[in-house]
Amino acid sequence: MTVGIPIRRLWPEPSTQPLDDAALTALYGRADKPRLRMNFVASLDGAVTVDGYSAGLSGEPDKRVFGLLRMVCDALVVAAGTLRHEEYRAVRLNERRRAWRRANGLAEYPTLVVVSGSLDLDPAQAAFADAPTRPVVLTHADADPPPGLTDVADVLRCGAERVDLAAGLAELHRRGLTQLLCEGGPHLFGALTAADLVDELCLTVSPLLAGPGPGRITAGDAAPPRHLPLRHVLAAEDGVLLLRHARP
Ligand SMILES: NC(=O)c1ccc[n+]([C@@H]2O[C@H](COP(=O)([O-])OP(=O)(O)OC[C@H]3O[C@@H](n4cnc5c(N)ncnc54)[C@H](OP(=O)(O)O)[C@@H]3O)[C@@H](O)[C@H]2O)c1
Repeated sequence: MTVGIPIRRLWPEPSTQPLDDAALTALYGRADKPRLRMNFVASLDGAVTVDGYSAGLSGEPDKRVFGLLRMVCDALVVAAGTLRHEEYRAVRLNERRRAWRRANGLAEYPTLVVVSGSLDLDPAQAAFADAPTRPVVLTHADADPPPGLTDVADVLRCGAERVDLAAGLAELHRRGLTQLLCEGGPHLFGALTAADLVDELCLTVSPLLAGPGPGRITAGDAAPPRHLPLRHVLAAEDGVLLLRHARP
């Protein structure tokens, strides 16, 4: 079924017909080994937000792929900054997407994994309080959880004074969560890049000049450049580009 604004593949082989959800799912899919996939939307001039939020950059084609990426993952990893700022709600999928997961032997919903050093998290936030699957909070040994957090989430400690992201991802893999989708934000992306843990970037480029001011999709301390080859280019009829870059 094709919904909304048509999306076509431009590269490697152009598709004349719009891609339906089954074709898009096949293009993004699941890997046969552990994988950390990042998903971001940016403006043409590289902004990560408009008026402070990502919503001003996103449209129907981006939301469609965003939903399909959530459908195919085992766990949705998000930094505490983005969880708080974007007021994340519980990760829910519609019946069609849950049926796809059941048919593919997956849990009904992906597990939410929140990365936080401070544990400045609100257990009443809907992302925790309404979660259909118990979330995981990835933190370090010295962090003190606020009252109620351990009632609504598993607190996983990796690292002494700061979160050891490599150890955290390895522990998620050990728990059977191997297909990881990370929705940011920029500081977490920067730290994952520095630790050379990023296997894939799905980047939506919105045909918009946001102008000076907003940050980029990455932030934090400098890190060596990492090569990430292009895998496909999709274009939506509203001028949005959907790029997939992944390690060989
Ligand atoms: N365009 C897009 O696709 C997109 C996607 C996501 C976010 N955004 C935007 O990005 C902005 C938020 O970005 P942000 O700068 O706040 O970055 P962020 O990476 O979302 O959050 C930073 C916070 O996450 C936790 N964190 C991140 N990396 C960590 C690490 N290595 N170890 C331990 N904890 C870590 C820390 O939480 P604690 O403070 O709890 O320790 C840190 O303060 C918002 O404006 C949001 O709208 C845009």
